[in-house]
Amino acid sequence: MDTSQLLKLLDGSAQLEVDGQNMNLPVVKASRGPDGVFVSELHNDKYIMLDPGFFTTAQCESKITFIDGENSVLTYRGYPIEQLAQHSTFLEVAYLLLYGRLPSQDEFSNFKDEINHLTLVGEDFRSYLGTFPQNLRTMPTLSASICALENFTQKTSDIKDPKQVDLATKIIMAKVRTITSFIHRRRLNEPLLYPDYSRGYIDDFLRMCFAVPYERFDSNPLFVEALDKLLILQADHEQNCSTSVVRIVGSANASLYASVAAGVNALSGPLHGGANEAALLQLERIRQYVVEKNGTVRDFIENAKKDGKKLSGFGHRVYKSHDPRATIAKSYAKRIFESGTGSLDLFNIALELEDIATNDDYFKERRLYPNIDFWTGLIYHAIGFDSTMFTTIFALGRIPGWIANWREMHENPMSKIGRPRQIYTGETERDYIPIGER
Ligand code: ACO
Repeated sequence: MDTSQLLKLLDGSAQLEVDGQNMNLPVVKASRGPDGVFVSELHNDKYIMLDPGFFTTAQCESKITFIDGENSVLTYRGYPIEQLAQHSTFLEVAYLLLYGRLPSQDEFSNFKDEINHLTLVGEDFRSYLGTFPQNLRTMPTLSASICALENFTQKTSDIKDPKQVDLATKIIMAKVRTITSFIHRRRLNEPLLYPDYSRGYIDDFLRMCFAVPYERFDSNPLFVEALDKLLILQADHEQNCSTSVVRIVGSANASLYASVAAGVNALSGPLHGGANEAALLQLERIRQYVVEKNGTVRDFIENAKKDGKKLSGFGHRVYKSHDPRATIAKSYAKRIFESGTGSLDLFNIALELEDIATNDDYFKERRLYPNIDFWTGLIYHAIGFDSTMFTTIFALGRIPGWIANWREMHENPMSKIGRPRQIYTGETERDYIPIGER
């Protein structure tokens, strides 16, 4: 531990008494939100902290994202999410997360230019992508492709060289967009399209996903705007499951590619990023239940409660009030459905589900509100994506946040390899019995 670094953060102390033994624990001051009690030295005093699910354990100090879950506050580098969603673009927010400040005109146009010109993947990598079966699973394919990308790039793997890390950052941001469009087209057995450098980041992503080769493709401007904003909303969310995984893998000095691929794997889970797909399938199940069984949305909720089933797209570990991202995502869902695109009946079911659940005592007592994933699936579906693609688009948005956290960890001299402890509750010690004598 670098003591001079630590001393800068410490402010006051906390007392802990266990079995009559008093321990003095230093307090780390936060600029916003709860202060931290520094417990790393506890193991010298025979105790370790047990906190399954990390409800009250911070693994790092960070300057990137702040959440106040009681008051629906989310900021990136101090800027409220509402302002960023209103005025900024996904690429500008990516710059902000990665470099800690908003770019000047020149910095931003260079950044966009670099990302744009790194979008193309080589023919060998296209062949590699073509080896996945048509009925591929989207998130494992994305994760495998990001790992594989490292083999197809030169001089971007040295994590101690800031220039290589920066190039790897831009390569991953640029090429994951192309890879995601390939995954979409591969599942449809359609040709993989080359990027068009003259188009914007989102516009060209939609073209690479939906265009017919050699035919002009004009993106729906509302879809471009909505997707750009959704990627901003998903760009970072402090130490969630996938971001913590990216930090832990990176803490072993694994490459940026390996760390980001690990984040993709974590995000795939239905309790995390996979909830957007689960939420849309849930709306489709409700529609079927209403049409075929004459049921109601209220019956569906009551049955779920009776069976102890969770509603997908509700609840959050940190937000115990409205998810501010969900509010913005819902406004785009509304605009899209009011413009006459998408399945209006699914949107209406979502509105009814939200209304009933948020006025239901079970949900109110547990402070369960619709989260961002409740709305994003509806929007992706209206744009034309199959539900299996939803979490890959979430991953595309989350990449700047994962990489910003990875870089912040490596820039901090206090960082250590992530190695949680355990409370051992198994057998103490016993003698081996040969198999014939058992
Ligand atoms: N529907 C019904 N009940 C729920 C829901 C839900 N969606 N979420 C939580 N609860 C209940 C739990 O059953 C538990 O009830 P109990 O106190 O009677 O046992 C209580 O609320 C607390 O829930 P936990 O699961 O302990 O809360 P935790 O913070 O561990 O989990 C999580 C948060 C994983 C998001 C959870 O709310 C959930 O599974 N939601 C559904 C999946 C989902 O939408 N995930 C996306 C999250 S956002 C994101 O990752 C981008």
